[in-house]
Amino acid sequence: MARENMDEKWGFETRAIHAGQKPDQQTGAITVPVYQTTTYEQDEVGKDRGYEYSRTGNPTRTALETSLAALEGANHGRAFASGMAAEDTILRLLNPGDHVLMGNDAYGGTFRLISKVLTRMGVDWSAADLSIKEDIEKNMNPNTKLVWAETPSNPLLSIVDIQTLSDFAHDNGALCVVDNTFATPYLQKPLEFGADFVVHSTTKYLGGHSDVVGGFIAMNSTELDQEIGFLQNAVGAVPAPWDCYLLLRGVKTLPVRMDRHCENAESIVNFLSSHSQVEHVLYPGLTSHPTHEAAQKQMKKYGGMVSFTVKGGAEAARQIAAKTNVFTLAESLGAVESLIEVPAAMTHLSAEGSPLEVDNSLIRLSVGIETVEDLLLDLDNALA
Ligand SMILES: Cc1ncc(COP(=O)(O)O)c(C=O)c1O
Repeated sequence: MARENMDEKWGFETRAIHAGQKPDQQTGAITVPVYQTTTYEQDEVGKDRGYEYSRTGNPTRTALETSLAALEGANHGRAFASGMAAEDTILRLLNPGDHVLMGNDAYGGTFRLISKVLTRMGVDWSAADLSIKEDIEKNMNPNTKLVWAETPSNPLLSIVDIQTLSDFAHDNGALCVVDNTFATPYLQKPLEFGADFVVHSTTKYLGGHSDVVGGFIAMNSTELDQEIGFLQNAVGAVPAPWDCYLLLRGVKTLPVRMDRHCENAESIVNFLSSHSQVEHVLYPGLTSHPTHEAAQKQMKKYGGMVSFTVKGGAEAARQIAAKTNVFTLAESLGAVESLIEVPAAMTHLSAEGSPLEVDNSLIRLSVGIETVEDLLLDLDNALA
């Protein structure tokens, strides 16, 4: 089995365990070694054995990049030290005078990077509801070079139709980026729907254990990969070998974890939907969700993130979030343990100036893989 480049004739679960990860040639070790080295011996001046310096390349990182690219069904993949570092690298393709169109509910950190850092370099931006065609059209301009979508989005879990958006971007000479952090390639593969780049915070579901911060870019175009590879080395926001190892370890169980995340989330959605303290439940799997149809078209299941508003406003939301025991009050998401947060007072603060006003009675759950009855009881007690 050619584990270096396992294509999609192999099952997703097989690729998650084996792609990029053949046993070590020298020792037979089953897991990829942590190549904790900065430099590599050269056989002659300028004649290395594939690696010369670990910012430029490291075998543990190569294994991770091969593994994640195989899961996205991508020709190429590049790993970074954080999701933001991956995003920053894509945005460095832009020049002064270029324009980025992003979703109006982009992750706060993405909004901050584009609106507060990229603008210093002369890049212009606007934000629109990317699920509405007229909104996209109104905000595209002749300088738009990137259209940046997050689907499902954070924290409203709205869905952008990737095929429609990427067709639109291409017709207007722009590239389409999809942040696939919430769905993971197990639930959705944006490149199949025409996206040019998939970006991830691997800190979340791909790592899955709240113990590593990382980022990833997948793409099919060799030309774009060369540009991203140049920036990866030139800017240098690369992940450490140990972090690559932790990610490889996490990814092996991605499919089974995602199945349980989705199953638990569905039970919680059912519970919340009929609770008297709950006003509104946001979950792309609900037929009442405004963008459910797009979710159905491009997602295998609907994910482990659930948002809901409660009666009693901001104070009620804060009290509920502080009262749970199994759900930990914390930022971040996508790991085995369940987390609860109030976006308006926590994660969404980094989106200061964003056109999206997040309801201050909104609670976001990252549903973990604990026993579902314990999760339901915990929420029931907190909502009482
Ligand atoms: C959807 C999304 N994209 C990107 C990021 C940034 O990733 P990181 O925190 O790994 O830099 C986050 C972080 O929460 C996120 O939720």
